[in-house]
Amino acid sequence: MLDWDELERQCRHCEKCALAATRTNVVFGAGVRDAEVMLIGEGPGENEDLTGEPFVGRGGKLLDDMLEIIDLSRKKNIYIANMVKCRPPQNRDPLNEEQEACIGYLRNQVALIRPKIIVCLGRIAAMKLIRPDFKITREHGQWFEKAGIHMTAIYHPAALLRDPGKRPETFADLQEIQRKIREVCTHTY
Ligand code: URA
Ligand code: SF4
Repeated sequence: MLDWDELERQCRHCEKCALAATRTNVVFGAGVRDAEVMLIGEGPGENEDLTGEPFVGRGGKLLDDMLEIIDLSRKKNIYIANMVKCRPPQNRDPLNEEQEACIGYLRNQVALIRPKIIVCLGRIAAMKLIRPDFKITREHGQWFEKAGIHMTAIYHPAALLRDPGKRPETFADLQEIQRKIREVCTHTY
């Protein structure tokens, strides 16, 4: 396991998969490094690639607004990262081989943070981190425990932008996440 500085340095120079060739910036992650709650997305989009920050476009704004409702913020008490650190061209889903090449960085981030709760943003992260046949429409908001970490998934912000009809379910999931935080976290609130 690498420390934060060495991990970030290696990640910023990484050429382990083909996404290195088309990226502008590596999107390493953002937030507080002693967070008890970690959010994991799929991969950078255009705005993230251009800025090097996760979730900064329209979806990012929606995510920040939703998190604020339950007193979570990347400035204060969460850490946000992605399955792959470089943008897939045309925002396609990251290939399995790209996820496999990259997941070591994420695992190292999880090992450094030692979160109590991991929230997968969307089905790609949930399928990799919770279960390969995870069904986001049916299983969002449910809890799974893995290696002592409470894991759940909510709809991806981009899905909520495409289909605002899903927002009430996500609002309920956020309330449930807040309840779980109160149950298992000691310094998030
Ligand atoms: N979508 C993601 O999954 N991650 C980001 O960082 C931005 C958009
Ligand atoms: Fe390396 Fe991950 Fe970027 Fe691929 S996506 S080049 S594995 S940092």
